[in-house]
Amino acid sequence: MKISVVGGGPGGLYFALLTKKRRPDIEVELYEQNRADDTFGFGVVFSDDTLDEFLGADPETYELIRDHFAYWTDMIVEQRGLRSIVAGNGFAGCGRMALLQILQRRCKDVGVKLNFAARVEIEQIETDFADSDIIVDAGGINSPIRERYSENFGAEITETRNKFVWLGSTCSLDGFTFFFKETEHGIICAHTYQYEAGHSTWVIETTPECWLASGYGDLSEEENARALEDVFKDELNGHPLIVNRSLWRNFPTIKCESWHHKNIVLLGDCKATAHWSIGSGTKLAMECAAALSDAVVQNGANIEAAFSAYEAKRRTPIEITQHNAQVSLRWFENMPIHWNKTGEAFVFSCMSRAKSITWDNLKLRDPAFLEKFEIEYYQRFIGTKTEGIALSKPTPMFMPLSLRSMTIPNRVAMAPMAQYCAVDGMPQPWHFSHYSSRAVGGVGLIFTEMTCPTPDARITDGCTGLWSEAQQRAWQELVEFIHNSTSTKIAMQLGHAGRKGSTKAPADGMDMPKDSDNWPIYSASPIPYIEDTSAIPIELDQAKMDEILNSFVQAGKRADAAGFDMLELHCAHGYLLASFLSPLTNQRLDQYGGTIENRLRYPLEVFKAVRAMWPENKPMSVRLSSCDWAEGGLTLDDLEVICKAFKGAGVDIIHASSGETVKWQKPTWGRMWQTPFAEHIKQHVGIPTIAVGDITKPEQINTIIADERADICALGRPHLNDAFFTRKAAGHYGVENQSWPSQLHSGRYQLFREAEKDNEKLLDLSIKARPDLRHDKKT
Ligand SMILES: Cc1cc2nc3c(=O)[nH]c(=O)nc-3n(C[C@H](O)[C@H](O)[C@H](O)COP(=O)(O)OP(=O)(O)OC[C@H]3O[C@@H](n4cnc5c(N)ncnc54)[C@H](O)[C@@H]3O)c2cc1C
Ligand SMILES: Cc1cc2nc3c(=O)[nH]c(=O)nc-3n(C[C@H](O)[C@H](O)[C@H](O)COP(=O)(O)O)c2cc1C
Repeated sequence: MKISVVGGGPGGLYFALLTKKRRPDIEVELYEQNRADDTFGFGVVFSDDTLDEFLGADPETYELIRDHFAYWTDMIVEQRGLRSIVAGNGFAGCGRMALLQILQRRCKDVGVKLNFAARVEIEQIETDFADSDIIVDAGGINSPIRERYSENFGAEITETRNKFVWLGSTCSLDGFTFFFKETEHGIICAHTYQYEAGHSTWVIETTPECWLASGYGDLSEEENARALEDVFKDELNGHPLIVNRSLWRNFPTIKCESWHHKNIVLLGDCKATAHWSIGSGTKLAMECAAALSDAVVQNGANIEAAFSAYEAKRRTPIEITQHNAQVSLRWFENMPIHWNKTGEAFVFSCMSRAKSITWDNLKLRDPAFLEKFEIEYYQRFIGTKTEGIALSKPTPMFMPLSLRSMTIPNRVAMAPMAQYCAVDGMPQPWHFSHYSSRAVGGVGLIFTEMTCPTPDARITDGCTGLWSEAQQRAWQELVEFIHNSTSTKIAMQLGHAGRKGSTKAPADGMDMPKDSDNWPIYSASPIPYIEDTSAIPIELDQAKMDEILNSFVQAGKRADAAGFDMLELHCAHGYLLASFLSPLTNQRLDQYGGTIENRLRYPLEVFKAVRAMWPENKPMSVRLSSCDWAEGGLTLDDLEVICKAFKGAGVDIIHASSGETVKWQKPTWGRMWQTPFAEHIKQHVGIPTIAVGDITKPEQINTIIADERADICALGRPHLNDAFFTRKAAGHYGVENQSWPSQLHSGRYQLFREAEKDNEKLLDLSIKARPDLRHDKKT
């Protein structure tokens, strides 16, 4: 068997070494266009866990790497003269040159044939490599092989916004340090770490606006280094910045639908990149090299089986890391906005940017840091009406929030979740039990499911309504129970299904039209939701628009009479009002179509009419699909225009959901995946927001609220699973400021006692799991 490896970076070399070592009978030959001692860049970073894997895969390589690296446990953030240290991390830095030389040496030891200064031209693949059983493409970001077969691999490359340059220095550093500097043109950040004695990596990045205004694009490599030395002169402490093909670039995010084509298999950066702000490119390339090598060793000549096993093992971890890296890089793209945060708040924001580091996680890593953050955080309440919060420090999740005259006791909301079991729009005993049990469970604010102002506004026969006296009374009974028994507040969500109406309950066929007794459906434009399946909606004319607007006002009046504390207008998920907002569903030629100002005209008219009726002292929210996850859909600029208009019309808080506009959407799901929209609206429009979507843990809520990404977190599915989510979280944090129904008092005592014991156990485990310097030779 013969394997040709194209590319002698960490990925290609590690694969060649591990494969040849275990299968000396296989001919493994590697081609690298550079000479053996050429390299770009300076250092690379590995975590403790990655080093554990290296130890398992090839102890000899591990030992050699270990001889060379610098080890640290502190992350340091420096900004505006404040140096904050967050302990409890475990990382090793190693020179890229040293790493490549170690891998080259090990390749030679085991008998890999290495060819340097040997660039592989794409034509050679079909000629010189015709006898190779496997061709491993480890050619990095610009791999010509991936380029040539781009369509077969389904390759997608997107350039990210910020500019960055990779430099080195002789300056020594204590730990991984982020240096943030404010220049006259904007914020510049240096991501720095020492990778061996007297050598450090300096990856410097900034926004395109700051880069352009600073004129860096007009400077030579050397001139750039001198200019950046000037920016970081205090931090460099007299040391120079060293260049090595140090050119400003935009980071390309690479994704491939398939990692193999015929006998060619992709490895490392050429198939998938993860932004270096989470420091994992080399680690990922080497972990994939180990997985590909295992698959080849185990499957021998059955290359199809080998490639499938490799992809099955690595695709999910790669996609998770890519997603985390994407979230992290967005934080750096938004540096100018985060700069509004000062002191430890800025540090908290930077540290918690990539989802895995949360409130609880920081508390376990470095309790002293979190304590400093909390002291600063609660300072803002001193001298205010809610000064008590500064003393009780309930964690951000358990701070009350006032909107007009409504005060909710904590920042947890139950998201609107259709139950599809109403009868003729009438809430059933199920609804009473469902909502009241969540209120008893301590949630701060409940949103009802989308409730419809008329029968023909419903999605399904099972949707709740608010067009009759009887419905009003049923809702009132629920509201009164909640008010009399708990401190939870309750909001009515009013919505009209539009083109998604007259369908079956999801259990009988999601979005499928009813088999009989259909009612006419309406939308901004006559475009069916599912081509050739859904009914074609009638384009709304002025008379019908007026009628629907009036029905919202009438239902709003009933909601007020039923005692609801708040009203939400559903303008999301492709329903009637949302169908006006998105260019994908609104193709009208009148004053309600075209520009975003026109498209939002009708939803705004409805909002204004309802707001005029709704009591002045009660708040209102609007739920929006912040984007359509589909080409040609709503843009972030559109979203800002919409939010500003609603803010001007008296909306108190924006509920930032997304998608469901078109059936062919392609959302990027993940933990807290829609929170960036809530944050964007809050920061750019200056209005409180509700974050929703895969927020499943109290520590995530604390992180989101503490970092001011949103003001409330709404949880849908987690509340289906656990009515007592909020009370349990209060027990976990030992928070005393929540009211507790007297009937539950004896349970409360047990909850707090057990939570305290659980926390002690967790702390003990985390102390044991802390970096033990196990990979550090110096200890
Ligand atoms: C600024 C920056 C900072 C980074 N910091 C870190 C970090 O701290 N930690 C970390 O783990 N990762 C970091 N990375 C990422 C890391 O450098 C890469 O993810 C890693 O090197 C990928 O390894 P690879 O083997 O896939 O590709 P590469 O290392 O890019 O190697 C590809 C090799 O293929 C060769 N080649 C290409 N085409 C041909 C051809 N036709 N014929 C022959 N040879 C060819 C190239 O010369 C190159 O040597 C950083 C990256 C950047 C850009
Ligand atoms: C079964 C179901 C019913 C839903 N009903 C509504 C609804 O009536 N109104 C609405 O705005 N969103 C509705 N949603 C969306 C949720 O409010 C929420 O945004 C979504 O479930 C994501 O949050 P989660 O990850 O916490 O579940 C529904 C979602 C599900 C799964």
